[in-house]
Amino acid sequence: MRIDFVTLFPGMFPSVMDASMMARAQEKGLVSWGCVNPRDYALDKHKKVDDRPFGGGPGMLMMAEPLGKAIESIKKKKSKTILLSPQGKTFNDKTAARLAKEEHLILVCGHYEGIDERLAPLMDEEISIGDFVLTGGELPAMLVADAVARRVPGVLKKEDAAGSESFASGLLDFPSTPGREFGAAARFPRCCSRATTRKSPNGGMTPPRPRPSASVPICSNGRNKRRQERSV
Ligand SMILES: C[S@@+](CC[C@H](N)C(=O)[O-])C[C@H]1O[C@@H](n2cnc3c(N)ncnc32)[C@H](O)[C@@H]1O
Repeated sequence: MRIDFVTLFPGMFPSVMDASMMARAQEKGLVSWGCVNPRDYALDKHKKVDDRPFGGGPGMLMMAEPLGKAIESIKKKKSKTILLSPQGKTFNDKTAARLAKEEHLILVCGHYEGIDERLAPLMDEEISIGDFVLTGGELPAMLVADAVARRVPGVLKKEDAAGSESFASGLLDFPSTPGREFGAAARFPRCCSRATTRKSPNGGMTPPRPRPSASVPICSNGRNKRRQERSV
């Protein structure tokens, strides 16, 4: 999969996109990424990329021509162009899994008050990462890229790793702990000691902590991984 970010701030990306799982995904040749800067397509010598909204109003918009040209410079037949916007559809695991099947994602990072509305036809969809407003689309775009990349087959070490994570089958991941004790704070819960593991109703897994704000139930039986099907 190829992920291109259309951004006025390409310097924000390498520390996230070249670290950890993303670095390994690139080493394996499964994911590659790049940035295109609308400023490189600016029309004047000052490299201006903002514009006043027609009819007034507070703030500036991303100027249509540089942004449009930047997108068109990388858009191919099979590209999926996504605008990051607080007005988009809220991102979730289902969307991540769907987008992981794409060959080429173009993630358009807005800035100022957003993009010139006339560019809307260039977008295939609009994604929000939640009901709050950030300064730019760069953090939302990297969040989407990370969640999508870990759903690309082969990126995670174990083939079914993404499938057993929270939300994948409608439940939160079951709690776990390494098989080592250290200090009073890291004692095993009673249910997990060797003596009680067999008798434990959840097969010796760490018991779930209550999570009052969770939107989906927690998988309490890690051993059997019996997960009820429920769409999230
Ligand atoms: C300051 S925001 C613009 C907010 C816009 N005027 C509004 O009220 O809906 C600038 C850019 O940040 C990005 N952004 C901010 N919050 C976001 C969110 N919750 N989800 C996705 N993108 C967001 C978008 O790309 C947006 O164009």
